[in-house]
Amino acid sequence: PAPGPITAPVMGWNSWNRFGCNIDENLIRATADAMVSTGLRDSGYTYVNIDDCWMASTRDAQGRLRPDPVRFPGGIAALADYVHARGLKLGIYSSAGTATCQGLPASLDHETVDAQTWASWGVDLLKYDNCNNQGRPALQRYKAMGDALKATGRHIVYSICNWGDDEPWVFGPNVGGSYWRTTGDISDNWGSVTSLLDQQAGLEPFARRGYYNDPDMLEVGNGGLTADENVAHFSLWSLLSAPLLLGNDLRSVSASTLAILRNPDVLAVNQDWAGSQGRRVADTGDQEVWAKPMSDGSVAAVLFNRGGAATTVSTSAAALGLGGSSSYAVRNLWTAGTATTTGTISATVPAHGVAMVRVTRAGTLAAPPASGTLQVSDLP
Ligand code: GLA
Repeated sequence: PAPGPITAPVMGWNSWNRFGCNIDENLIRATADAMVSTGLRDSGYTYVNIDDCWMASTRDAQGRLRPDPVRFPGGIAALADYVHARGLKLGIYSSAGTATCQGLPASLDHETVDAQTWASWGVDLLKYDNCNNQGRPALQRYKAMGDALKATGRHIVYSICNWGDDEPWVFGPNVGGSYWRTTGDISDNWGSVTSLLDQQAGLEPFARRGYYNDPDMLEVGNGGLTADENVAHFSLWSLLSAPLLLGNDLRSVSASTLAILRNPDVLAVNQDWAGSQGRRVADTGDQEVWAKPMSDGSVAAVLFNRGGAATTVSTSAAALGLGGSSSYAVRNLWTAGTATTTGTISATVPAHGVAMVRVTRAGTLAAPPASGTLQVSDLP
């Protein structure tokens, strides 16, 4: 399909990683305020997404979902107004099952009424989970909601949380999905981050402009990762064209965490219009190189050190998929340093850390091959 409702990975915040069910409307409003005051909104983070536990334990007399009266006494529509007034968007959550993962009412067989309800409240995004699905086919369950969202006439981004169970990278775009979870849940530790990263390798062909693999939300700033691990997690998720959904407490975010989350050069890699997902191009023990072709012909790369001691990680312009030039400009996206090389690119990389660079052809291009003119009949 052609690009859907989004043209770059979604950027925003979601309540789950840090707060779980411990949410209420004050938290959502304070988070929206913090997104403005910290500059995160102006860096592109626009979605404020409420995850599980926003709903009351029963539907109303008309069969509609309603917000938990204690956590959200003012209602979701008022919250949507509050968020919209700050130039932000509101996301909500349900499951393609009989109950959410926390056992609250969910949307299987209630797709039309629930989509209409969210649209009437001014909701801008739905994260649709996979719990309590009664063993019914995923395609059918996720298509029913995709159709219901579309029928509302409101632009609602559809986030498919199928955990990779039913190849959502295949069916997702066909049911109106813009991105889909490829794995189980992230947790706030290094082993989880590297395990989710490994599960992305091979899924690159399914990501393209408007449609993205989702290796789950960010844990940057939640305390379980070291400073270098936070930078590595954020760099790799950016290179993977992952949705960048912050999972930390923005009311008390530190300056050092903000410096990671707001790095404009790294965000530009994530948001590149071509939408190609970075792939692993070299893997030698603890040292890996991941590369993402950029729409301007440059390549963004992460030089990754999984090991427990600092080391030098090296690659070359050719290995990154660039060639044919006598020199290349290299920009280090975390130090803003620049250099010129005839091909070799290397950096000292801390334990569990990365160097992230963008490499551009800078020199004279080699002459094209003298013979072998490409014929239309040669094209695949
Ligand atoms: C599942 C999802 C998580 C979160 C919880 C909420 O585990 O994968 O991202 O939404 O449900 O209960």
